[in-house]
Amino acid sequence: MIPLCEKYRANCFADVKGQETAISSIHAFFNNFPIKKAILLHGPAGTGKTSLAYALAKEMDLEIFELNASDLRNKEKLEEVMKPATQQQSLFGKKGKIILVDEVDGLSVDKGGLPELLALIEKTAHPIIITANNIWQQKFNLLRRKAELIKIKELNYQTVLNIIKDIASREKKPVKEDILKSIAAKSRGDVRAALNDLQTALDIEITVEEIHEREKEEDIFHVLRKVFKNQSDPKITSVYDSVEMPIDEIFLWIEENIPYEYKGEELARAYDALSKADVFRGRIHRQQHWRFLVYENFLLSAGISHASHKTKPISGFTMYQRPKRILKIWLQNQKYAKKKSIAAKFAKAVHIGRKRAMKEFFLLPLILNKEAREKLDLSEDEEKFLEEYQEKYKR
Ligand SMILES: Nc1ncnc2c1ncn2[C@@H]1O[C@H](COP(=O)(O)OP(=O)(O)OP(=O)(O)O)[C@@H](O)[C@H]1O
Ligand SMILES: [Mg+2]
Repeated sequence: MIPLCEKYRANCFADVKGQETAISSIHAFFNNFPIKKAILLHGPAGTGKTSLAYALAKEMDLEIFELNASDLRNKEKLEEVMKPATQQQSLFGKKGKIILVDEVDGLSVDKGGLPELLALIEKTAHPIIITANNIWQQKFNLLRRKAELIKIKELNYQTVLNIIKDIASREKKPVKEDILKSIAAKSRGDVRAALNDLQTALDIEITVEEIHEREKEEDIFHVLRKVFKNQSDPKITSVYDSVEMPIDEIFLWIEENIPYEYKGEELARAYDALSKADVFRGRIHRQQHWRFLVYENFLLSAGISHASHKTKPISGFTMYQRPKRILKIWLQNQKYAKKKSIAAKFAKAVHIGRKRAMKEFFLLPLILNKEAREKLDLSEDEEKFLEEYQEKYKR
């Protein structure tokens, strides 16, 4: 699965909404090159700066050459880039080139990058596009003079709403209007943020999946009844085999419903079995001891069932409850916290900004092999998160 903001990345000018003024300035710059050698697209996150650079390349049929901070400090690389197209043995033949220096906020004068960029602007044979969030820092004084400034505006509510509505409909999954509206409002003009929220909304709202969920719930109700009400069933340990639900989720259902079924000593015994199952659950997750699944399953079935010593099936109807939604939200937040801490470690290790690491997070499972993961010194929870994340996006 590709994140929505990559799947639907605006890749031509018509796709980049609300930036018409900027687009005509970009055209003018390109047509008048080399009167001005560089443009500096500046504005808040997720408003289309990087997309505009790629759109220009696509529409003008140019080869785009992206330089990051360390490329700028690399003499050979710079010299290669600065050669005019005719001297270059480019695979792309006669294609023109533009240079993109994306997200220069982090460049500095003393640690390098910035002076090289200024020199590059002097000597370049190709148009340069620079992007930044905030160009009003003092270190950019010279850069501001050498490049033409083009402001990329924060998008208004209506524009963001239109963009996400369009993408939601292309995904062919209905999302309620009020959800789309609140996503647009919350985004404060950041389309990437809005698309990430939309992704979550789509995951939760998918109707087909909801139907499937309901079927699963019928199964689990049926199974809970067996576990809680029929203590003498000899086949109780295989009771969960037919339920299409991960054991962790079954765990939550059991936990939620124990107090509706048991009282007094039964209740204490049931919680005891549950807490033992939880110990195994923890080991399975932390140490990948899958053979403990047998024990977890045993405790969650026979263990819970035999918490009651009754020999006859218990009569009466119990309205079983779905595990609290709050739990899901809590899990979601936990996940976000892990994602942030992994991104921070990665950012530090490879000297990029945290923001960038978060944005490109979907690449991390691919980039980070076993050795690299060890070097980052990820916690168990973080490793687990990364694995689950990888699984999810493999599909
Ligand atoms: N004006 C816009 N119209 C349509 N889609 C947009 C617009 N701005 C951003 N997007 C979408 O949001 C995502 C991020 O866009 P992009 O990478 O161009 O943002 P950016 O301005 O470079 O952000 P940052 O400052 O964080 O680098 C992409 O999926 C892109 O298609
Ligand atoms: Mg960008």
